[in-house]
Amino acid sequence: MEIQILDKQFSLFIPSENILNEVQVLAKKLEFDYKEKNPIFIIVLNGAFMFASDLLKCFRNSCDITFIKLSSYKGLSSVGTVRQQMGLMVDIQDRHVIIVEDIVDTGLTIESLIKNLENQNPTSIEICSLLFKPEAFKGNNPPKYNGFSIPNKFVVGYGLDYDEKGRNLKDLYQLKTE
Ligand code: IMP
Ligand code: MG
Repeated sequence: MEIQILDKQFSLFIPSENILNEVQVLAKKLEFDYKEKNPIFIIVLNGAFMFASDLLKCFRNSCDITFIKLSSYKGLSSVGTVRQQMGLMVDIQDRHVIIVEDIVDTGLTIESLIKNLENQNPTSIEICSLLFKPEAFKGNNPPKYNGFSIPNKFVVGYGLDYDEKGRNLKDLYQLKTE
């Protein structure tokens, strides 16, 4: 299936059923690893909102949930500088932190966030990302919890946007290259 968003053509990449299956697997892993740990999930807005919602519905242990808003992208590529548009509102000292991301691409966003969070002395920090682009990754901390490793192509849907469009799509789409 193909769709048009603004000036670009995208084709169906990962259908909703496959995403939801994988999300359930991730949630069960987290449930097991964080038993009795009362972790705090930090959801990176905007892109991770849909993933986080499905993930946390399947995570049935005690936890806290909070949000942070970062951005490093404009259009189809990362601009390299990470802007924090909404900061952390809670204390994470002595807590087990799980960062929930839609996608780890270059890794710049996550590296800068981790550095920032480490200053607040949490007990542990791990990343849970729906998608990971290993070929684009330049960081030191690949996500411990990862749904799909994908090729280095732009994707949209299930929370991810192309110039703020497409976040509401329930499936994931990949940019068509001519
Ligand atoms: P990074 O800093 O390069 O790892 O990029 C991380 C952020 O860029 C992600 O949280 C996404 O919001 C955005 N991003 C990276 N790749 C894509 C993509 O293929 N489609 C949509 N957004 C993306
Ligand atoms: Mg994001």
